[in-house]
Amino acid sequence: MTDKQVYPVSPAVAERALVNKTQYEEMYRQSVENPDAFWGEHGKRLDWIKPFTKVKNSSYDYNNLSIKWFEDGELNASVNCLDRHLETRGDQTALIFEGDDPSVSRNVSYRELYEETCKFANVLKSQGIKKGDVVTIYMPMIVETAVAMLACARIGAIHSVVFGGFSPEAVAARVVNGKSRFVITADEGLRGGRAIPLKKNVDAALKHEPNAKVEKVIVVSRTGNDQVPWTEGRDLRYEDLMKEASVDCPAEPMNAEDPLFMLYTSGSTGAPKGVLHTTGGYLVYASMTHEYVFDYHDGDVYWCTADFGWVTGHSYILYGPLANGATSLLFEGVPNYPDSSRMGQVVDKHKVNILYTAPTAIRALMAQGESCMDGTTRDSLRLLGSVGEPINPEAWEWYHRVIGNGKCPIVDTWWQTETGGILISPLPGAVDLKPGSATRPFFGVQPALVDNEGNLLEGEAEGNLVILDSWPGQMRTIYGDHDRFVQTYFSTYKGMYFTGDGARRDADGYYWITGRVDDVLNVSGHRLGTAEVESALVAHDKVAEAAVVGYPHEIKGQGIYVYVTLVQGEEPSDELKKELVQWVRKEIGPIASPDVIQWAPGLPKTRSGKIMRRILRKIAANEHDQLGDTSTLADPSVVDELISSREFR
Ligand code: WTA
Repeated sequence: MTDKQVYPVSPAVAERALVNKTQYEEMYRQSVENPDAFWGEHGKRLDWIKPFTKVKNSSYDYNNLSIKWFEDGELNASVNCLDRHLETRGDQTALIFEGDDPSVSRNVSYRELYEETCKFANVLKSQGIKKGDVVTIYMPMIVETAVAMLACARIGAIHSVVFGGFSPEAVAARVVNGKSRFVITADEGLRGGRAIPLKKNVDAALKHEPNAKVEKVIVVSRTGNDQVPWTEGRDLRYEDLMKEASVDCPAEPMNAEDPLFMLYTSGSTGAPKGVLHTTGGYLVYASMTHEYVFDYHDGDVYWCTADFGWVTGHSYILYGPLANGATSLLFEGVPNYPDSSRMGQVVDKHKVNILYTAPTAIRALMAQGESCMDGTTRDSLRLLGSVGEPINPEAWEWYHRVIGNGKCPIVDTWWQTETGGILISPLPGAVDLKPGSATRPFFGVQPALVDNEGNLLEGEAEGNLVILDSWPGQMRTIYGDHDRFVQTYFSTYKGMYFTGDGARRDADGYYWITGRVDDVLNVSGHRLGTAEVESALVAHDKVAEAAVVGYPHEIKGQGIYVYVTLVQGEEPSDELKKELVQWVRKEIGPIASPDVIQWAPGLPKTRSGKIMRRILRKIAANEHDQLGDTSTLADPSVVDELISSREFR
């Protein structure tokens, strides 16, 4: 029913837009019919030290997988984000820093950001960091984080940003997997008025992990809390190092296929994987999607509320906007601090024109009621964006009507850590909107739907979402495990990239993402593997077995529902539930806190011992009238037991 609701492109939006309907169709056609010509042209949006002569070189053949873009070109990402703007916009604001405390903000010009970056790049060099080294960045949302990322890019070091909400255990695992010898952190972060003990977490991570071979920890002073413990010889103060550093730092010429960064994300099995992105294709794609999807015009103030710890922060706070010479707002805090009008306050204060946020934030505001926008006008807004999880039509309408005053188009952007940039999204001047649909593919992107056997589905259909050919921003490998890369994305459906998502295509060719079809959860737009949470739980000595599934959650999109079997002799209790929640927070981080724990004397398993998650998902969602076939279970009676002891929420 809701797909009948259409918001046509308004004449005012179409008039100023970079691309109108006819242009979109024409450019899309060119992009898939002749990708070499299309991307050869658009690749020139960057400054190349050595221009590329080759454009696309890719094969999705499972036995001969290869993904290369602009492979003989050389460039440097930090030069594209900074140096090349100095002449034309050196004094323009590159980053607006809005502090956790609403009275704190500052503007950083392109020249200032350039100078800080060059100085810090020299600092990194003086500490022995070289091209190809992996540098772990565990930081709050402050300007120095952008400086650290760009400084790595300048000298060719591979940054690996770890979200500041992850626990010491999670930091340790990522440091070890990335063989990272350097960590950049801050004394503390500030979020919602509370201090986050980042340096202390780093210390804990390195202390308990014998395999972590970290030589240097550079610590930025954010709160100035000098109670943070100090390891002489290893720990260095950012401010001290910067005092001596020169602003002259020639950029390292990087091959287009040299790594720019890695970023850990959750899969359906095993430990998080280090998604590796390279330099040329990624930056072309991030900057181009940023310009076209957000219809970015010179002088616009753009605010993406993501964190640098996620891919959205990489592509759409830092690399895309800065490559385009944009003004990008960077927010340290949370949308409900000091109160739930904060988002509107920030928009008004900095005259934000483009706001890009997540459905979970919108639903949380919605739950507060419309009065949460009282006292703010949001008149400056022209365009809204959504990312991270499916946006339900109700939240879409609320976002449009309340936050956007009914006058801003919403771009619902579907993409993944793996894709580097947005793959499916309306272009505001070209595509009529339908609330809840990510609509049509970006240039060069060929989405398709397949059934479980891999047969392509035509026309109106629902199935597994695959992409048929490569685009420049695609990940190139999983750091240190290329086989896993090939297996994870290219073995399920031969000759295609499998996204892990399900989708429906309507009669107009619009895509409606229905959510993950694998064992990946999306909790408040954060990606988590059920396997990760399960392995954290079974590491507790009272837990014999655990199964984790997602269930529909009004604000978070998905909540975490946990079935726990205790070891013999242990008694279930509310205390123990609390202990297990704390345990998971400690092992992974607060984002992985279970919402519901159900004691399970047994779990539904096939005769070969495989847990039937389908059944557990139905019980968690309170849909136990739709369990389907349970006859293959080793012991069907477990199911009745679980239903009758189900947790009520
Ligand atoms: C989900 C975030 C529906 C999807 C950029 C995907 C979405 C996963 C949307 C990737 C959207 C992201 N509509 N679902 N607009 N955007 N997703 O790697 O399930 O953190 O596979 O990247 O989020 O999450 P990731």
